[in-house]
Parts: sequence; structure tokens; C-alpha cells
Amino acid sequence: MSLLRTEGLQKNFGGVAAVDDCSIAVEAGEILGLIGPNGSGKTTLLNILSGFLAPDAGSVWLADERVTGMSPVQLARRGLLRMFQMSRVFTRISAFDNMLTAGLAMGLAESEAESRAATLFEELTLTHVQYLDAGQLSGGQRKLLEFGMCFIAPPAIALLDEPFAAVHPVMRETMARFIRSRHALGQTFVLVSHDMPIIVDLCQRAVCMNAGRVIAEGATRAVLESAAVIEAYLGSSAHV
Ligand SMILES: Nc1ncnc2c1ncn2[C@@H]1O[C@H](COP(=O)(O)OP(=O)(O)OP(=O)(O)O)[C@@H](O)[C@H]1O
Ligand SMILES: [Mg+2]
Repeated sequence: MSLLRTEGLQKNFGGVAAVDDCSIAVEAGEILGLIGPNGSGKTTLLNILSGFLAPDAGSVWLADERVTGMSPVQLARRGLLRMFQMSRVFTRISAFDNMLTAGLAMGLAESEAESRAATLFEELTLTHVQYLDAGQLSGGQRKLLEFGMCFIAPPAIALLDEPFAAVHPVMRETMARFIRSRHALGQTFVLVSHDMPIIVDLCQRAVCMNAGRVIAEGATRAVLESAAVIEAYLGSSAHV
């Protein structure tokens, strides 16, 4: 049984079908790449999967439970956690307190949250800035912080929306290393990225969307080389 699957998801904004009859499956332990040109519906799909948007039609299943329409909190408690394309942290409290807050919100005891936070700051090479206000961190450091906050209580599935965008290459490598090491421990990911070398490097399988629809899925290289995917990208301003 797939860990997460959708059946015939639909989301319209006015006349635009942002997500159009979308059925995908995420298997336990995989890193599934979710790609597609700008505006193809990737973020909208993640918004539905994480409960920030209700679909107009279709269903979402987490293992054998139908979770369609549940709130982000209900889904987070079931292990479905997403990272936003735009970073969202509390800028006027320290990075460490942001991490602690995430832990407490996930129901960890304070001492447990503190020790996990310390480990995460080390893994993400942020220990030297952990007591600065999050607002003083660079954009990349803030992304790493938010990224770490998703893992304070390891989710069943981490939904990552362009975590590498506008992040310094050194931090990008820190993030990729973190994803690889968690994947080796069995962590499941859905990774949205326009960075094709990273998608090829990290994802065994990929799904490509265009205009809200799934146009290709399978082994990552085969998806990237498929005629439908090449045409979808060449038809827009994005580059494969
Ligand atoms: N809240 C909204 N209201 C109206 N239209 C929206 C809204 N959110 C998304 N859209 C539209 O839905 C379509 C899909 O957008 P979405 O943000 O999901 O694409 P994306 O694949 O994540 O793009 P990108 O790669 O640029 O992040 C686009 O046409 C977009 O303009
Ligand atoms: Mg997006």
C-alpha cells in the first residue's frame, strides 16, 4: 500500500484548473521528485496534501485513512508536514526558540525538544547562529532553520516546496546531505524543485505536472527525457 496517494484531485481558481484530475502515489521510504514548469500546480498540490487548501473534488489517502479536507494541524499530527516555498519563521525570537516552538507544537516534552533542537542545529551547521533572532539570519540560514523545524518530530512524509531556491550552494549541499542521511534512515520525501541536477541526484522517481495534470511519472531520468516533459518545458520559459 502506498504511504500517500491522491485520486482525481481537482482545484480550480476561477477559470484556471490549478490541479486537474491529479492521481499520484508516494511509496514509503522514497524521495519523490515533483517537477513541472512555473504555474503547473505543484504548490497547489502540496497545499492540498498538507491541508492548507481543500480540493474541489477527489481524495487524499494517508495509508488506509481518507484524510481529504483535514486541517494542517490534524495532518501534521498524522505525520504529513510541509515546508513552504516562502520561509515562515518568527523573526523576533531566536532561531533556537523557533525550533523549540516547533517541537512543543508537535507535542514533544521541553527537554526532548531542546536536545533534538541542539542536534538539528549541528546537523544543519547553524549552531553558531542559534541564539540570534531568526530575523537576523540570512535568507539561506532561515530556510535551513525552517527546514530543520520540519524534522524536530520526524514526519511520516516531508513535503518540501523548493527548499533549495535562492539558497547559497554551500547551504544547498548541507540540505541535500541532510535529505540523503534522513532518507537512508527511511524518511519519505516529496521534493519540489526546479534544480534538475538535484532532482536527478536525490530522487529515484519523479512526477511531472503541466497545467495541473500529471504528464509523466516513473524513473527520474526517463521522466526528464520523455517527449511530453521536454515539450512542456520548452513551451514555457523554464529550462530543463
Ligand atoms: N490562490 C490562488 N488564486 C488564484 N490562482 C492561483 C492561486 N494559487 C495558484 N494559482 C494559479 O494556479 C496555477 C498553479 O499555481 P502553482 O503555484 O500551484 O504552480 P507551481 O507549479 O507551484 O509554480 P512555481 O513553479 O512557479 O512555483 C497557476 O496558474 C497560478 O497562477
Ligand atoms: Mg510553486
